[in-house]
Amino acid sequence: MLDIKKIRQDFPILNREVNGKPLVYLDNAATSQTPQQVIDVIVDYYSNYNANIHRGVHSLSQEATDKYEEARLKIQHHFNAKHAYEIILTSGTTESINLVAHGFGSLLEKGDEIIVSALEHHSNIVPWQMLCEKTGATLKVIPMTQEGELDMSTYADLLSAKTKLVFVNHISNALGTINPIESIIEQAHKAGAAVLLDGAQACPHIKPDVQALDVDFYVTSAHKICGPTGVGMLYGKQEWLEKLPPYQGGGEMIATVSFEKTTYAGLPHKFEAGTPNICGGIAFGAALDYMNAIGFDTIAAYENELLDYATQELLKIEGLKIYGTSKNKTSVISFNLEGIHPYDVGTLLDKMGIAVRTGHHCAQPIMAFYNIPGTIRASFAFYNTKAEVEALITGVKKAKMMLS
Ligand code: ALA
Repeated sequence: MLDIKKIRQDFPILNREVNGKPLVYLDNAATSQTPQQVIDVIVDYYSNYNANIHRGVHSLSQEATDKYEEARLKIQHHFNAKHAYEIILTSGTTESINLVAHGFGSLLEKGDEIIVSALEHHSNIVPWQMLCEKTGATLKVIPMTQEGELDMSTYADLLSAKTKLVFVNHISNALGTINPIESIIEQAHKAGAAVLLDGAQACPHIKPDVQALDVDFYVTSAHKICGPTGVGMLYGKQEWLEKLPPYQGGGEMIATVSFEKTTYAGLPHKFEAGTPNICGGIAFGAALDYMNAIGFDTIAAYENELLDYATQELLKIEGLKIYGTSKNKTSVISFNLEGIHPYDVGTLLDKMGIAVRTGHHCAQPIMAFYNIPGTIRASFAFYNTKAEVEALITGVKKAKMMLS
C-alpha cells in the first residue's frame, strides 16, 4: 500500500497552483516530477563538490568521480546489467538511440533490413531512416491493430536472414501499450538480428532485467523516472558495445592522441566524450534509489488502479473515444471528444489547473493510422490521486459542454 499523502509531501511542485487552481499534473509520460530527495542531491552537488570528473587528482574531482561512478553502479544494478561498463551515460533516450544508429552505420550493408514498429516515437523512427539512407539498408514496419497492439503475425513474416536489427518501444508513449518484448526478442534472435528496446515509457512503471530479457540494447531517460532532464542511459551487451565505433570524438574517450594516430578508451568511456552531465548522472542514481524504496510492483499496482478507474469513468462521457485499448497497458489514456479538437480541450483543462499533453505525441504514424490530428493524453504517476482523476473527469465534461 502506498502512503500517497506522505509521498506527495516529497514533491514540492505538487503544492503549487496553476491559473488559480491547485495543480493536477497528469502529463507524467512527458516528464515526471522531481522529489525533494533528488532535488537535495542536485543542490548538494553544486553546493559542495562541483568538479570535473576522471581528470583531477584534487579531492573535489575525486569526490565527484566517485559519486558519478557510484551512480553508474546503481543504474547497473537497477537494470541488472552484467557489467558497470555496459552502462553508457548519455543525454537521454534520443542520444542513446542515435549512438547505436551511428554505430551501425559501419556494420550494415545494402540489402540488409531493419525492423521498427508502427507504435514508435519519432526518436525511434528518424535515426533508423537516416541510417537506411546512409547504408542502403531497408526499413520494415511491424503494423499495428485497432487496439493499438503490434501485429505479431506480420512481425514473424517480416523477419528473415536479411534482418539485422529490430527496434521497438517497450511501452508506447502515445497509447500506453506494453509490447510483447520477450517474444519480439526471442524471434529476432532466432533470425540472427539484434534488438534495441526504447524503455523511456516503461521505466517509470517497470523494472527491466536486461539479462533475463537477453536484450542487446536498452535505452531510457532519467527525467521520466523522477530524475532530471538531460541525462539517460544506453545499456548494451559488451560484445555489441565493443563492435560499435565511438559516437563522438573528444576528451575522455581516448587512450592516446597524436597527429599520426589516436587510440580509443575502453568501455564505457569510448562512448562518453566531453564533460558529461555529472550532476544529472548522480541525480539519476538518486532517482532510482527513490523509486526502488517505494517498489515498482507497488507503483504499478497503484497506477493500474488509477488507470482502470479513469478509463471506466471517461468512457461514460458520450462521444469520448479512447485510442489504445490493449489489455496490456500502463497508466496512459489517449482520447478525443467527437467533433472537438484536442488542443481546445487541453487549453481549457489548463485553465482548470489540469496538465495533460495534447497533439501527436511525437508519434505521427499512430495518428495517421487512426486518421486523427492528435489526442488528449492523460498519464498517471504513483503520486497522483483518485481525486485528481475525478478532477480530470469533471474537467473533460466541462470542456465538452463549453466546446459543443
Ligand atoms: N516522449 C515524451 C512524451 O511522450 C516527450 O510526451
